Amino acid sequence: MGKTLNDLIAFLDSLHERAPLPQLVAELADLRVDCDEFGEHVRFSEQQYARNLVRKGPWYHLLVLCWKNGQRSPIHDHAGSTCGVRVLRGVMTETTFVFTPNGHVKAMGSRELAEGQVCGTQDDDLHQISNLQAGVADLVTLHVYTPPLVWMGTYSMYDTSRGQERMLLEFIDAAGI
Ligand SMILES: [Fe+2]
Repeated sequence: MGKTLNDLIAFLDSLHERAPLPQLVAELADLRVDCDEFGEHVRFSEQQYARNLVRKGPWYHLLVLCWKNGQRSPIHDHAGSTCGVRVLRGVMTETTFVFTPNGHVKAMGSRELAEGQVCGTQDDDLHQISNLQAGVADLVTLHVYTPPLVWMGTYSMYDTSRGQERMLLEFIDAAGI
């Protein structure tokens, strides 16, 4: 069967607290959704991967992220939020990291997620999302953050410095989702 985008939105609107990660991942995995349903929310930027806010509520942000070939997120945490991701178009590379005893981060491994596949992260989980497909292939991913993630901690492969990145959102008002 599978659930529609409206079913997902009904679930998110019904939240009165942070959604548990297994439930969020299950909701995204059950979804029968096509990238085209997101219409003009599928918008890319030449500068960096683009975050397009589809809908928001007190306990969530629903976003479409658009990645031109070669665009990558910083290595980041999830700062008290639960995050579920579903690949809408293309193949996504997720690299996970852990802290080392001397305060650096090291990569644990990378995996490729195909269209329709889902992953989940929360709190201090560290990862990096990349579009490393051959040629010029674009990547489009659907993200739920509960509660909304307004900033995230960022990490360097070269030293122990920590940063904070505010989530810059583009909200396209008239898209009707
Ligand atoms: Fe993330």
